[in-house]
Amino acid sequence: MDSITIRMVEPDDLTACHTIEARSFPAPEAAWTTSLRNRIELYPEGYLVAELDNRIVGQINSGSTHKDDISDEDFKQLIGHDPDGGNIVIFSLSVLPEYRSRGIASKLLNDFVNHARDMGKSNVMLLCKDDLVGYYTRRGFHDAGISASRHGGASWHVMTMAL
Ligand SMILES: CC(C)(COP(=O)(O)OP(=O)(O)OC[C@H]1O[C@@H](n2cnc3c(N)ncnc32)[C@H](O)[C@@H]1OP(=O)(O)O)[C@@H](O)C(=O)NCCC(=O)NCCS
Repeated sequence: MDSITIRMVEPDDLTACHTIEARSFPAPEAAWTTSLRNRIELYPEGYLVAELDNRIVGQINSGSTHKDDISDEDFKQLIGHDPDGGNIVIFSLSVLPEYRSRGIASKLLNDFVNHARDMGKSNVMLLCKDDLVGYYTRRGFHDAGISASRHGGASWHVMTMAL
């Protein structure tokens, strides 16, 4: 097996990124192609992909804001995104099912956090469901409680990491 490469997203990666998204989240939670294209075009520096065996197998994408309330649905379309915002908010961390449990998401997250620090960000934030709270706390995040977001009809924890 080749080694994993983590790199910034490129416009041609859109189809592969959408495939990962669609195979990783239930339909009401998965980002549409238009949302992913927006993130790739408007904030590629906040979007990393993992390459292995000559294919894109994982992704992490984000937006930045000065706000601490990240429950706004429009923000996922990068409405209100400010590249100078001190909070960088992860929208999607996902890995193709057949490539899971071999540390790819952890490597994406680790590189993303280091990159965010290099960009001068103050906090990394994200929303996750109950089952992944432990995953993120083991990787340095703090559970700041339940968000006002009801994205996809679910209940979400606000996870934060001060940089
Ligand atoms: C969560 C996800 C990104 C992990 O990817 P991965 O490359 O397998 O992750 P790693 O190999 O780095 O680590 C595996 C870890 O994931 C945990 N994990 C994966 N899915 C999980 C789930 N549904 N519930 C709880 N833990 C889960 C494993 O327990 C393991 O944790 P540990 O190492 O702390 O014990 C991947 O399972 C995925 O794409 N899931 C669907 C999309 C999703 O839910 N993304 C998170 C959105 S907030």
